[in-house]
Amino acid sequence: MFITLEGPEGGGKTWHVKPLAEFLRQRGHAVLTTREPGGTPIGDQIRQVLHRLDNTAMNPRTESLLFQAARAQLVEQIIRPHLAAGGVVLSDRYADSTLAYQGYGHGLPLEQLTSIIGFATGGLKPDLTLLLDLDVEIGLNRKVKSGEWNRLDAYTVEFHRRVRAGFHALCQADPARWVIIDASQPIEAVQEAIRQVVMARL
Ligand SMILES: Nc1ncnc2c1ncn2[C@@H]1O[C@H](COP(=O)(O)OP(=O)(O)OP(=O)(O)O)[C@@H](O)[C@H]1O
Ligand SMILES: [Mg+2]
Repeated sequence: MFITLEGPEGGGKTWHVKPLAEFLRQRGHAVLTTREPGGTPIGDQIRQVLHRLDNTAMNPRTESLLFQAARAQLVEQIIRPHLAAGGVVLSDRYADSTLAYQGYGHGLPLEQLTSIIGFATGGLKPDLTLLLDLDVEIGLNRKVKSGEWNRLDAYTVEFHRRVRAGFHALCQADPARWVIIDASQPIEAVQEAIRQVVMARL
């Protein structure tokens, strides 16, 4: 089973991966966790280029292609082999982030993005996607406090509002795959909600 965590900045995607993985391992599942962009040595080098605050000249198309390059490597090297061996893969972001950020955020054509995503992933789609949803200002404030601030976080609040609306549109277009989790709740309540959804699907 391939599970992805998606949503606007500061929803807790990165935080929740580890306790969820531990919870599933205790129940006997072989769990592999990964993150985007990155998750492989080559992908982590691309991640640095994408996140560097001084790369302000980056064109949205360049950004889109770098994300797909990292993703292609991750799918082939890590995700597909683990799924083929019968394991569970938990990914901190995946292809829906391209549609939300580069599509809804930057305004690039969704059909073209869908096409390069298909090329990068060879058509691999998640079985379940959790949308950790919250007001963008609350999420960005959490990020500021945490001290983790990258080039993409630094886009305008308006950009992040379009991204959040984009996630909702993606969710409505494929309701069988998506589950919305209220990420404004206390962190333990969010983790509990995530566990319940995942256990029901497994
Ligand atoms: N429910 C919560 N309540 C309060 N703080 C939280 C909650 N969830 C996460 N945080 C804190 O908010 C900060 C951002 O969380 P995290 O990095 O996991 O978000 P993220 O969704 O991965 O963000 P990004 O999209 O930017 O990668 C962290 O310091 C985390 O501890
Ligand atoms: Mg994160």
